[in-house]
Amino acid sequence: GIFQSKMFMGFGALFITCFCTLVLPLLLIVAAMKLWEMYVVSGRDPTCQSPLPPGTMGLPFLGETVHLFYTIYFQRRTFLKMKRQKYGYIYKTHLFGSPTVRIMGSEHVKQILMSEHKLVAAQWPASVRLILGSHALSNAHGALHKRKKKAIIKAFSREAMEQYIPVIREEVRCSVDNWLQSDSCVLMYPEMKRLMFRIAMRILLGFEPEQSKTDELELVEVFEEMIKNLFSLPIDVPFSGLYRGLRARNIIHSKIEQNIKKKLSNIDNNNNYKDALQLLIEDGERKEQREIKESATELLFGGHETTASTATSLVMFLGLHANVVRKMRHELQEKVGCLCLRIWGCTWWLKYTGCVIKETLRINPPVPGGFRVVLKTFELNGYQIPRGWKIIYSICDTHDVLDTLINKEEFQPERFMDKSPDDSSRFGYIPFGGGARTCVGKEFAKVLLKVFLVEVVTRCDWTLLNGPPTMKTGPTVYPVDNLQHMGDRMLDPQDQWGEGWHGTSWEADA
Ligand code: HEM
Repeated sequence: GIFQSKMFMGFGALFITCFCTLVLPLLLIVAAMKLWEMYVVSGRDPTCQSPLPPGTMGLPFLGETVHLFYTIYFQRRTFLKMKRQKYGYIYKTHLFGSPTVRIMGSEHVKQILMSEHKLVAAQWPASVRLILGSHALSNAHGALHKRKKKAIIKAFSREAMEQYIPVIREEVRCSVDNWLQSDSCVLMYPEMKRLMFRIAMRILLGFEPEQSKTDELELVEVFEEMIKNLFSLPIDVPFSGLYRGLRARNIIHSKIEQNIKKKLSNIDNNNNYKDALQLLIEDGERKEQREIKESATELLFGGHETTASTATSLVMFLGLHANVVRKMRHELQEKVGCLCLRIWGCTWWLKYTGCVIKETLRINPPVPGGFRVVLKTFELNGYQIPRGWKIIYSICDTHDVLDTLINKEEFQPERFMDKSPDDSSRFGYIPFGGGARTCVGKEFAKVLLKVFLVEVVTRCDWTLLNGPPTMKTGPTVYPVDNLQHMGDRMLDPQDQWGEGWHGTSWEADA
């Protein structure tokens, strides 16, 4: 009897221990998640009868931010496809501390992009706003946004662009020379970031070539740290993402301060053309130092990260499709000697090369989507999108679901030759966004990438050492292995192109 009651007591103690250490915490977690779900769902607008979109809100407070980071980092497209298949083109989630609706598909995205300032307004997550600052164009609104954008766009007029081509070409040439001279393999992605950074420093901020070279090394690394932490939970405590992002931002500000002071003292100089930063400084009343530093940081960020991502994807796709490289060389050969080559704006100017860029931006759009806040509750496809909630319009999902394309998984630049997919569905192909928030650097990016391609395709052959790489997002798209490639050899233009190529190279024309 004593033995039995001791055993019973032993079991009882074991049961209580198990209950307290395993079952109770589990029950508490489930209850917390239910309460969390109820709390978030209670955010629906009672004046609107339509239901909230389907979807899950994830863990209390963290939402699906950690999950999104983890999965997007490691299996980006699979994760998004899974979500799409489960919930459709409009679904709710909880990201960066806010209830959020993810939206994709040309018709839905059109409604978002065309409703800027009416139903929605651009609003990046709090961490981005804090790091880039309230004076950045992407954080400006209404009349101020319009004015700032008008000022920057002047830096990308046709005349200005013609002046940029030799600068872009000089920088690309210098990098290609280095790659061709190096005995070992080249890590393409870090190389592209440095190249595009130098170009952005010189063209967008008007820095001297020597300045951009000396500042480049240090600044690129600090930028990397800032960009890595741009999308974080909005908690500014030591070692948090936001804390590290703000620290990196402050270093960038102090590094470019000297150059900006110099720029401010030379502001009245009558140069041939004005860079984007100068136009911003001159726009309206005299600016505060802080405002100028924020604008400069935004231009450097927007201007180098996206183009570096696209240039890396271009090298990757061309490394995998020798037939496309052949066609590009053929096109270049055909246009050689043609006066039109001198005018970058000529509509048929290197049309196929342009299609290679378009196709690359379709499959690997460097900016995966844009952020908005809902100003007024509205309905989208039968769902309510409540006031105060955040919206992410997804560029990569929208490209993935564009139905009008044949073989859309394949890299086929030809598909853009006759008509662009956006002819039939203007908002189905949106690498640069659309509406009032369309990318301000769009034309500059396209010219820059064309000049880059011409230079690389005419001078190099290359092999991807690891075959097709896995891509990840953080925050722009890039290859996991940094795209190791081996530059084979320098091409002799005369051998490759025959008579006629020599002497009508870019140098003579640009
Ligand atoms: C391939 C290159 C590029 C791509 C794919 C790209 C993509 C985008 C996208 C999708 C947006 C819209 C985001 C939204 O809807 O909220 C945007 C906005 C912006 N981009 Fe780009 N971009 C590129 C190059 C550049 C360059 C070179 C610059 C520098 C001049 C730049 C500066 C900006 C700025 C300042 C905005 C904010 C515009 C506004 O709020 O009105 N981008 N970009």
